[in-house]
Amino acid sequence: AAMSQQLIITRPDDWHLHVRDGEVLEAVLPHRAIIMPNLKPPVTTTARAVEYREEIMKALPPGTSFLPLMTLYLTDNTSPEEIKLARESGVVFAVKLYPAGATTNSQDGVTDVFGKCFPVLEEMVRQEMPLLVHGEVTDPHVDTFDREKVFIDRILAPLVQKLPQLKIVMEHITTMDAVNFIESCEGAALLLQWLCTSALFYDYNTFIFPGHVAATVTPQHLLLNRNALFQGGLQPHNYCLPVLKRETHSMSQSPPNKKCYQLLQMHNHIYFVLMNNTLINCLSTFYPGQAIASAVTSGSKRYFLGTDSAPHDKKNKERSCGCAGIYSAPVALSLYAKVFEEAGALDKLEAFTSFNGPDFYGLPRNNSKIVLRKSAWKVPATYRYSSGEIVPMSTGSTLEWLPSD
Ligand code: NCD
Ligand code: DOR
Ligand code: ZN
Ligand code: ZN
Repeated sequence: AAMSQQLIITRPDDWHLHVRDGEVLEAVLPHRAIIMPNLKPPVTTTARAVEYREEIMKALPPGTSFLPLMTLYLTDNTSPEEIKLARESGVVFAVKLYPAGATTNSQDGVTDVFGKCFPVLEEMVRQEMPLLVHGEVTDPHVDTFDREKVFIDRILAPLVQKLPQLKIVMEHITTMDAVNFIESCEGAALLLQWLCTSALFYDYNTFIFPGHVAATVTPQHLLLNRNALFQGGLQPHNYCLPVLKRETHSMSQSPPNKKCYQLLQMHNHIYFVLMNNTLINCLSTFYPGQAIASAVTSGSKRYFLGTDSAPHDKKNKERSCGCAGIYSAPVALSLYAKVFEEAGALDKLEAFTSFNGPDFYGLPRNNSKIVLRKSAWKVPATYRYSSGEIVPMSTGSTLEWLPSD
C-alpha cells in the first residue's frame, strides 16, 4: 500500500516569478503568477504592463491556462496618476519596489522611498494596490549579508508605522530578522484588533492595523546556506539576490515547536507595542537557528510560495561578473515538499503553496488539483530554450515528489 505515496493538492500559484521578455520557461506552470517588472527597460507604466502581458499570453503553448498578474516597477518619478491608471487597467496587480542598484535591472529603482515616493504610496493605499518589496539596502557601507536586516530597520518598519493600511509583501525573505518583522506586524494587528473588540477602545477607526504584511519564500532560501556558493569551488548557479545567508538564519533541521509558536503569537503583539527590541530578543529564543523553515512550516498564513525563479542563460551565469538569479521553476514544488516533509509538516504544504497567497491578496483559491508523487526523479543538467540553455537549481541531483497534472 505504501508503494506509491502521493499528495493531491490544489494547483499552486507562484507569487514571484521572472518571465523575461515574454518567454515562459516553466516546466510545470502554476495557474497564476505575479510577473516581475525588471525587464530592460523596466515595466514602469500601465501601458507597458498591458503590452508585456500580451507578449506573455502570445508566447504560451496553445491550450495552457495561465494568468499573468502584472506589476509596475516603481521609480522616483512614478506618479500617483499612474497608480490610478494601473488600478483602472484591471491588468496591473501590484507595484514592485526595487531599491536602486539592489539587483538585476534595478538601476531605475527607487533612491529615496520616503522623500520621493510617499504620494504614490498614499495613492496605493487608496487604490488598495499591494507593494511588493525587494528588501535590501544598497548602501555600500552595509555588508551584503546585513542588507535585509538594515532595510527592515531603515525602510520597512518606518513604512508600516507611517502607512499601516498599505498591503506589503516582503519578497524572498532570507533572515530571522525578516521572520521577526512579519511576526511583529501580525502580532501588533492581532493585539489591536483584540483591544478594539474588547471595548477598551470604542473608536475602532482611530487604530492602525499593521497586519497587511506577508512574505514570499524561495526554495533556495529554505534549503541552502551560503556554503552552497563555495562548495568544491565557486558555484555561480547558487548565486542570487538576496544572497544566501549563514546557517543560523535559514536552515531547517528540526520541526518547529508548535507550543512555542502559539505562545509567541499570543505575546509578540504586546512586545511589539511596548518595545520593539524586547520582541526581537524574545523571538530569537523561539527560533533558535531555523527561522525561515520554522515559520513557513508552522502553518502561519503570512508566508506563501514565491519561487523567484530567475532564469539566466548558462553563459551569463558562468562568466566573470555573472548574473544573479536561480532557475528553480522545474524543481520548486519538489523542493518545497522536501522542506515540509523534513519538518514533519506535509499537511501544511498545501496552505503554503495554494491557499495563503490568494487569501492574502483577496483572490479565489484555484479549483484544479495537481499530484505530487513520491518517486525519485533526476533533475536535468540543463534546460534548453530558444537561444541557449539554463542550469536549474539542484542540477543533476535526484529529488522526490514529482509533480504532475
Ligand atoms: C486581512 C488582515 O490582515 O487583517 N488581510 C488582508 O490582507 N486583507 C485579513 C487576512 O487575510 O487575514
Ligand atoms: O537573484 C535575483 N535575480 N534576484 C532578484 O531580485 C532579481 C532576479 C533576476 O531578475 O535575475
Ligand atoms: Zn528581488
Ligand atoms: Zn525576483
